[in-house]
Amino acid sequence: MKVDNFRLQLGKKEYIPIVVGGMGVNISTTELALAAERLGGIGHISDAEVCHVCDQLFSTSYTTRKRKKYSYNAGNRDKFDVHFDLGELAEAQKMYVEHTVSQKSGNGAIFMNCMEKLTMRDSSETLQTRLSAAMDAGIDGLTLAAGLNLRTLDLIKDHPRFHDVKIGIIISSLRALNIFLKRAIKLRRIPDYIIVEGPLAGGHLGFGPEDWKSYNLYTIVKEVLDFLKSEDLTIPVIPAGGIFTGTDAVKFLETGASAVQVATRFTITKESGLPYDVKQRYINTEKGDIVVNTVSPTGYPMRMLRSSPVLNYAIKPNCEGFGYLLDNKGRCGYIESFYRALEAGKKGRRMEITDQTCLCTGMAKYDCWTCGDTAWRLKETTNKMAEGSWQLPAAEDIFLDYRFSEDHHIQKPSPEERVNS
Ligand SMILES: Cc1cc2nc3c(=O)[nH]c(=O)nc-3n(C[C@H](O)[C@H](O)[C@H](O)COP(=O)(O)O)c2cc1C
Repeated sequence: MKVDNFRLQLGKKEYIPIVVGGMGVNISTTELALAAERLGGIGHISDAEVCHVCDQLFSTSYTTRKRKKYSYNAGNRDKFDVHFDLGELAEAQKMYVEHTVSQKSGNGAIFMNCMEKLTMRDSSETLQTRLSAAMDAGIDGLTLAAGLNLRTLDLIKDHPRFHDVKIGIIISSLRALNIFLKRAIKLRRIPDYIIVEGPLAGGHLGFGPEDWKSYNLYTIVKEVLDFLKSEDLTIPVIPAGGIFTGTDAVKFLETGASAVQVATRFTITKESGLPYDVKQRYINTEKGDIVVNTVSPTGYPMRMLRSSPVLNYAIKPNCEGFGYLLDNKGRCGYIESFYRALEAGKKGRRMEITDQTCLCTGMAKYDCWTCGDTAWRLKETTNKMAEGSWQLPAAEDIFLDYRFSEDHHIQKPSPEERVNS
């Protein structure tokens, strides 16, 4: 059996059951999402730090304007005053989504990963703006991530596309699904798909920093499938986290999952937004280089390479320009750590902050090398070239390998002569 023996049915449309997960900030690029869409699957873009992403892609100046507007506050520990301009946020979101969906050329779909924990100083207002603007701009689906998203559907229930856009939720436990479903049922808006993200995924984890090891994706997926059956609910279930080969995917599809969500194998593709050198690092990763830590101010554990530059940051908080992780009181865990270290610091000694990191800056600069637990296997998926660097596969190579491979065989890309930086 191979993945190609299965199809994902969402509403009236059928897809190849491969979903490329959202990877912020601009790691799952427009080009990566479009490759999945062209091949009949589902590709995600992410709206993490969308104003900054637009500045990079379209030479807009959202970040500079915001930084200038609040420059008077830069030396202040209190970021209560610092807000996103909702009009500009909507404009950026629309620009980014339109840029992506206008280039669709296949039978697949483009979804957007929207994280609730990206609180942006005004959590409800900014999330509502992001979701509404994405729908206005023609996104095919919204994947609600990083949070219980208890009130998220309420924020968009009056939008004209509320019942037509596909809406999915990422959960890591049956408990979290139950909490979300209670509200969804009240609003008569059952999700169109459920992504069950297990403990081996990249990015933030929905488990404790230590107890993630005691969970298993297969068990959680089975629990969710059994629960949905017992409640007579027909909602496609999409497992994610640690699915490295087509054969891994088939195991889930045979159990009753409708598709799989994958990400780590796509981080090293030509289309991924990571810089060339970082892709080479990912491929050279060994098992012991991957850690789960608690430095993210979101409060969720995060998996990343031990050598990530964000783990040595001691930079001044940059919330006047970024501020994507400020809570509704204008606070962020990193600001607290920074000023604590500053106050305790001895003259002439380099300041050290180890408990938290400035994730906004880190993600924007590709200094946070987050990856799934299987990243150490990436070297199995491509060719080493004569001069010692690794060939970067195309997203199509990886997608087709997932789709057609059997017996855990991994089809490497056709060798290339040149370095493809
Ligand atoms: C580099 C990277 C960045 C990620 N960023 C996000 C993100 O911004 N939001 C999110 O919900 N999930 C994020 N994820 C999780 C993926 O979307 C996906 O569900 C998961 O990594 C799949 O497991 P795999 O990487 O083992 O294939 C990220 C994963 C990676 C590898």
